[in-house]
Amino acid sequence: MSSRLSRREVAKAASAAGAGLAAAPAAGSAQPSTGNRAGPERGAALEFPPGFLWGVATSAYQIEGAANEDGRGASIWDTYAHTPGKIRNGHNADTAADHYRRYREDVRLMRDIGAKAYRFSIAWPRVFPEGTGRPNPKGLDFYGRLVDALLEAGIAPFATLYHWDLPQALQERWGGWRSRDTAKAFADYSGYVAAKLSDRVRHFFTMNEFYSFVDMGHSRIEAEVGGAAVPVEHAPGLKLPPAELYQVRHNAVLAQGLSVRAIHANGRPGTRCGPADNVSTAVPLIEAPEQVRAAEAATREMNAGYLTAMLEGRYTDAYLRTAGRDAPRFTDEDLKAIAEPVDFVGVNVYRPEAYVLASDAAPGWRAVPFNASHPKMLSSWHVLAPEAIYWAARQVRSLWGVEEIHVSENGCGASDEVAADGQVHDTDRVMFLRNNLLHLQRATAEGVPVKGYFHWSLMDNFEWTDGFGTRFGLVHVDFGTQKRTPKLSASWFREAAARNAVV
Ligand code: FCB
Repeated sequence: MSSRLSRREVAKAASAAGAGLAAAPAAGSAQPSTGNRAGPERGAALEFPPGFLWGVATSAYQIEGAANEDGRGASIWDTYAHTPGKIRNGHNADTAADHYRRYREDVRLMRDIGAKAYRFSIAWPRVFPEGTGRPNPKGLDFYGRLVDALLEAGIAPFATLYHWDLPQALQERWGGWRSRDTAKAFADYSGYVAAKLSDRVRHFFTMNEFYSFVDMGHSRIEAEVGGAAVPVEHAPGLKLPPAELYQVRHNAVLAQGLSVRAIHANGRPGTRCGPADNVSTAVPLIEAPEQVRAAEAATREMNAGYLTAMLEGRYTDAYLRTAGRDAPRFTDEDLKAIAEPVDFVGVNVYRPEAYVLASDAAPGWRAVPFNASHPKMLSSWHVLAPEAIYWAARQVRSLWGVEEIHVSENGCGASDEVAADGQVHDTDRVMFLRNNLLHLQRATAEGVPVKGYFHWSLMDNFEWTDGFGTRFGLVHVDFGTQKRTPKLSASWFREAAARNAVV
């Protein structure tokens, strides 16, 4: 595209900048601040509370590579990615970003971009190659070395125990998450890791994005892409009948509760943990009290199989009614385990599930379809609606009284290339970051207890079925040479983290 702007484009750019400025002092955040290091020209400070954690996130399968190193067992994602036709361009993550070997360089990068916390995941099949039984000390050693390097660099480690890479052995032995034995095995693995690492790791995320590995891995789901219905699928790529799907969902939240118990029982006193879920967020299209209440009710129901069950210890009446004869089978003991108190809730927020309006008809709200012209980020699913991050945090607080919330993921894919000047000009990601953090700052200014923000992702990686085609990093990775190049968004992040404010 030509770098010269037409008059029409210049006019559009100017009015967009104006709109950005007008939106800056978000309602509820107008408290003048004394500690702001921004120049006086910025007006009201858009600061986060002292001690707010600026973090970056990754997951094991997406970056580590070293698929056959040091006794690692196979995971369901190895099997899936090596199945012809599953991953765009036939990619797999055998090497990925080679982080297993380059972790020291990557920790330096984190430090250089001002990250104070790092959310990474532990590959279960590195620690228990067969899923259960004899642990593989070399596998755990890697995470010990990583954690030491992080602590040396002044970066707080937040370890996720399950970011979808189930040991293949458990898929074969028990049908994976179809069996509650897998939930028990997950708890054993969680307790083992907590016992070994909690002298240095104080925060554990149990499981990542329930819907993404349960529903997308075990049922037929289609997304609309350019007017066509396209199947979306994750490993293990099963298409189960509804009753079995409900049971898999149940086993997954049971695993979460048992894992929390095991971490508290085996970790050092004060070890904190909670899930990292992609909470489905209903955003009130119009901000008025009855609309806000309707959106809350919608969010509670949209999460009935996952967060609502975990934080309320029961399935909603509507959920069980809809399931009918397919409803999961469970005991009171199960519900108690599922509701095991968590220390924090992580929310992964990329977009809202829906805009909603209050309605006189049951259930009291209706979803408003996204307009055909609603702006999107690069990924076909990624409608741009930065206010979702505010509502997700606010509703997790108002619905369930959660006292510690982390944004465990937020970010966007972009078509990033290293330009002739050696830089990656990801202006769309900078725009995305600034606007999401504006809305997050509004939440903290209103007293919503958001303690940390983890940008997805530290660096470009294997984006599941998209392969290496969709880049989410603050740092560009050339997957041929493994050269890392911080993008302009990394400079934005560094500045924001240093000032603890939206910049
Ligand atoms: C989330 C996943 C993460 C990454 C981002 C883009 O759903 O948790 O691994 O793929 O989306």
